Amino acid sequence: MRILVTGANGQLGQALQGAVRPVPGMEWHFHSRAELDISDPDMVDSLVRFLRPDIIINAAAYTAVDRAESEAEQAYRINRDGAGHLAQSGKAVGAKLIQISTDYVYDNGRAIPYLETDPVRPQGVYARSKQAGEEAVLQADPTNMVIRTSWLYGPAGTNFLKTMIRLGREKPSIGVVFDQVGSPTCTIDLAEALVAMVQRIQDDPSGGAGFQGIFNYSNEGVCSWYDLAVGIMRYTGSTCEVRPIRSADYPTPASRPAYSVMDKARIKDTFGLQIAHWRDALERCIREMPKEPVA
Ligand SMILES: NC(=O)c1ccc[n+]([C@@H]2O[C@H](COP(=O)([O-])OP(=O)(O)OC[C@H]3O[C@@H](n4cnc5c(N)ncnc54)[C@H](OP(=O)(O)O)[C@@H]3O)[C@@H](O)[C@H]2O)c1
Repeated sequence: MRILVTGANGQLGQALQGAVRPVPGMEWHFHSRAELDISDPDMVDSLVRFLRPDIIINAAAYTAVDRAESEAEQAYRINRDGAGHLAQSGKAVGAKLIQISTDYVYDNGRAIPYLETDPVRPQGVYARSKQAGEEAVLQADPTNMVIRTSWLYGPAGTNFLKTMIRLGREKPSIGVVFDQVGSPTCTIDLAEALVAMVQRIQDDPSGGAGFQGIFNYSNEGVCSWYDLAVGIMRYTGSTCEVRPIRSADYPTPASRPAYSVMDKARIKDTFGLQIAHWRDALERCIREMPKEPVA
């Protein structure tokens, strides 16, 4: 089985590279943006036809949520069209596409954990472009998969954890919003889950045809960004005080859902996954992070 991973230098792409173990009969091919620009249909098609992967994991995306408000064309070119190119070329060689998407497609104003069957109501350019990407992937082939994840952080790349570690070293006190709640996801955990899912698909006698559609994935438990920041300061030994502030006091170009918790029963039941609580995942991530200065 050959697996192609796009966006290999992103935070999830790097975590996937770390999660893969040598398994007989399984070949992983990681491609950075320089090696495979998913917004270039010819480049996608020639690489996919050359490699003939069984599975494509699309970890490439335009992820600048606020900048997307002024760069809509670019966000759609990557998040909608890029996903569509991978789906079309993948279909031509019989590959199953696993598209990584976001909790931001939900936001229906309720405070009950979202099911994959709930209606979507993406707010903002980034969220709408990701939802358009989901549609492109599932319309091309309904046996493709979409994994909606939330609040991604990890040892690689730029993310909330890295920012908080830096601020925890530089500032005596910071304000963090407490009125947006959701579930953080450590890239290490998501990457390990994806590797386990690929293994299940490989072991499936029907070639994984039964594994299809939308799945939610995050770490277990619920918190606010404030709670997450407090956890980061605690596990990194920082004395920086974290103050709860309202979103209204921290305006951003793109609005974020106030409630963004996802129900993960489907992915756990389908793939037999066990998911760590966000606090345990955070503690492990910080423990396993390289100790050199954080940018
Ligand atoms: N970050 C979050 O909090 C979060 C939350 C929910 C869902 N997600 C989703 O999770 C997935 C992984 O996100 P992430 O946090 O790992 O993102 P990331 O760190 O921003 O990585 C995305 C990668 O995609 C690459 N890329 C951008 N445009 C590309 C193109 N045209 N062709 C090929 N590669 C391209 C980027 O390369 P450059 O660095 O060169 O631009 C980068 O390496 C994405 O689908 C994202 O929407 C993220």
